[in-house]
Amino acid sequence: MRVKVSIIGAGQVGATAALRIAEQDLADVALVDVVKGLARGKALDLRQSAPVEGHARRIEGSESYRICKGSDVVVVTAGVARKPGMSRDDLLQINAKIVAEVIENVVAVAPEAILLMVTNPLDVTTYLAYKLSGFPRSRVFGMAGVLDTARFRAFIAEALNTAPEDVQAMVLGGHGDTMVPLPRYSTVSGIPITQLLDRKVIRAIVQRTRQGGAEIVKYLKTGSAYYAPASAIAQMVASILKDQKRILPTSVLLTGQYGLRNVFLGVPAVLGARGVEKVIELQLSVAERKALKRSAEHVRSTVAQLKQLGWEV
Ligand code: APR
Repeated sequence: MRVKVSIIGAGQVGATAALRIAEQDLADVALVDVVKGLARGKALDLRQSAPVEGHARRIEGSESYRICKGSDVVVVTAGVARKPGMSRDDLLQINAKIVAEVIENVVAVAPEAILLMVTNPLDVTTYLAYKLSGFPRSRVFGMAGVLDTARFRAFIAEALNTAPEDVQAMVLGGHGDTMVPLPRYSTVSGIPITQLLDRKVIRAIVQRTRQGGAEIVKYLKTGSAYYAPASAIAQMVASILKDQKRILPTSVLLTGQYGLRNVFLGVPAVLGARGVEKVIELQLSVAERKALKRSAEHVRSTVAQLKQLGWEV
């Protein structure tokens, strides 16, 4: 049996995710983009790298969603990216429209698929996709926390001059300035970072993590990050397709966990063949709980904006 991942949006994030998924031999890939020829061209280029890279993955590209038929996972990256000075929330109006169109098409051809949302503002587009698709909560979730923790881990590794892979970390909350990096739950080979780094250094790393996306936008000027986002997508897809049941920070619909409900927010979740199989509830300090609540309020206010724009969700 061959497994298939469709990626909607063949831009920087989508095409790089396709590359990683094929080269990690995770699945065949169907790339869809509204721009005529774009997905076809990138798919053809990726196919031509297969003999050299040494994989036998099928990679197709099209403007039509027909090629998504039979997808196990659909990754949604369609939408516009940030420019310098913009917040992810500034993308709301345009990306909500794009996501709605994408979801309608995806549901029609791949009603059994797991939806992994990437388009920003992440926690809000994931909410929209959940409402519009009618899929169960276990099959609609968003990629943000793996990316935010990857940034946190990379900065910790740089500060300690240690292997990035040995650094484990946790970030809760929305994908934006209100995210809640958790130094207490971050370790290097099992050693809490609070024993290895100064409080001041940790505070600076937390701040840099919060601004991690914006720092890159400032350099790139015409777009936002895509290598690390694509790595994060591939890791979540691997956990699902291989039923690894990894515990990864994921934007999921909370139904009472952490005292919150009816909001998508980043929390540790078990990802396996059925999608989100479990949400893990961490014990939080008063300050951490307050920060998470503030983050939830922020996501809720952006959902409220969506309603003001006329979306009945
Ligand atoms: N249907 C399909 N594809 C679309 C649609 C649509 N309705 N609208 C736009 N697209 C495509 C664009 O044609 C483009 O190729 O989505 C792609 C987006 O690619 P980029 O502009 O390169 O943006 P990227 O950096 O990949 O980011 C995509 O992910 O990380 C988030 O904030 C980021 O929301 C942004 C998204």
